[in-house]
Parts: sequence; C-alpha cells; structure tokens
Amino acid sequence: MGQDDVWNTEVAGRYDTPGVGMFAPEVLGPTLDRLVELADGGAALEFAIGTGRVGIPLAERGVPVTGIELSEPMLARLRAKADAATVPVVLGDMATATAPGEFSLVYLVYNTISNLLTQAEQVECFRNAFRHLRPGGRFVLELGVPELRKLPPGQDAVVFAHTEGYTGYDTYDVVAQRLTSHHYRELAPGEHRLLRSHHRFLWPAEMDLMGLVAGFTLESRHADWAGAAFTADSPSHVSVYRRPD
Ligand SMILES: C[S@@+](CC[C@H](N)C(=O)[O-])C[C@H]1O[C@@H](n2cnc3c(N)ncnc32)[C@H](O)[C@@H]1O
Repeated sequence: MGQDDVWNTEVAGRYDTPGVGMFAPEVLGPTLDRLVELADGGAALEFAIGTGRVGIPLAERGVPVTGIELSEPMLARLRAKADAATVPVVLGDMATATAPGEFSLVYLVYNTISNLLTQAEQVECFRNAFRHLRPGGRFVLELGVPELRKLPPGQDAVVFAHTEGYTGYDTYDVVAQRLTSHHYRELAPGEHRLLRSHHRFLWPAEMDLMGLVAGFTLESRHADWAGAAFTADSPSHVSVYRRPD
C-alpha cells in the first residue's frame, strides 16, 4: 500500500482537529516559535505539508512558506484554508520534487521522514533538502525514537495509546526496519474504524549519517521544540542540520 492510498480523501477529511491534539495551541505554539527563529528572516519550505497544520500558521506569522505534498486529498484540504498565492504547494514526492525558490529553512515534522520506506529514499530526502537551501540554511526534522527497548524477545507489538474509544499500537519488523501503526477508534458501540500507516523507523545516529552523506552538519538536537534536553528516555527529538556557508 502506497502513501497516497493511506492519505486518501477519508483520512484527509478528518485530519484537522482544530484546537486539540496536534492542533492544540500548546503543541503548535512552541513549534511555530522555533520555526520562526530557525527561518532567520528567510523563506521556509515544508516537506509533506499535508493540510497546512504548521505551514498556514507559520505563513500567518510572516514567514513565506512553500510546500511539497504527495497527496491530492490532503492538498485539497489545505486549499480550503489557504490559496496558492498565500501558500504555494508543489504536488510531488519530497525525496525528488523541486519547489521554485531558495530557502533558509526546510522542515519535516510529525515523524514524516519515516513515511519514506527505504533508506535510499530517506537519503534522497536529505539531499533534496540540501538542494533547496541557501548556504548556511537549515533542515529541521521532528521524529520519534523507535521504542525497541519496550520489545521483549518474542514480542513484536507496543501499545502507545489505550484510552476510552481508542487503541493505538505499533508492530515492528526489526529485520526490515519497518513498523506499522494501527489505530482502532470506536465510532459507536461495537463499530470500529481501523487506520494503518507504514513507516521505516530510524535512530538519530542513522539520521545524522544521512545528514553527513547529503553534506550537512548536525547543529542541535533537543527533545522538543521548546529546547528540552535530549536524553536516553526522550520519546522523540527535534534535530537541526545546517548546510555549510
Ligand atoms: C502525518 S502527515 C503530516 C502533515 C503535516 N506536515 C503536519 O504536520 O500536519 C504526513 C503527510 O506526509 C505526506 N507524505 C507522505 N509521503 C510523502 C512523500 N514521499 N512526499 C511528500 N509528502 C508525503 C502525506 O500525504 C501526509 O500529508
């Protein structure tokens, strides 16, 4: 199943949850603050911009934002909120597509590098970010740390959420370095909806090597957008790579 099958009209139609979850001000606020700082007065390019959760409010803060996005239904949702003059978007693959212009910031958030299912595509994504950046520009990624330490021998699943009406768990294939996220939501008593997404998980160290291969140096790594220290127990990281001057 390809990414464009996953990010279909139904999923796009219920992606936005204004004010809650990933759209909550306490999630978006620190993300936007940090992206404004990293853009450093220049233009930004969002890889996999989706429905514009981050790109639209970043543009509203005065940063010129362009996007690259694979899914037409996700882009249609963005277009219902912002026109092409406000947030131009190229329909295409973030590993290979070209957006016009030169950028001081390329960003790829919400674990989306892992939507590229091979190491070669992930490396190409780093190279594509590098090509779009002016000298001294930055590529920032937000990514979860694989939860392999939670897998005892013989077990391949980790439950990451179990609340009233919703169960989410990941199944790992540690040989192929892949995981599938399963989201079960109860719509009505006895009626459930299942959404699956497919990922290639990667450690920060492998990501750093991809950065080096593409020509970047690692500038910083934090546990979150507000700058908390990254530790052995951090569930995710925000990593900033810099194209040399
Ligand atoms: C989790 S959503 C993130 C959307 C947005 N960045 C956000 O933070 O809300 C993942 C997005 O990645 C897009 N996507 C997946 N693979 C892609 C690829 N190879 N190139 C461009 N977009 C891709 C999907 O269509 C979807 O819109």
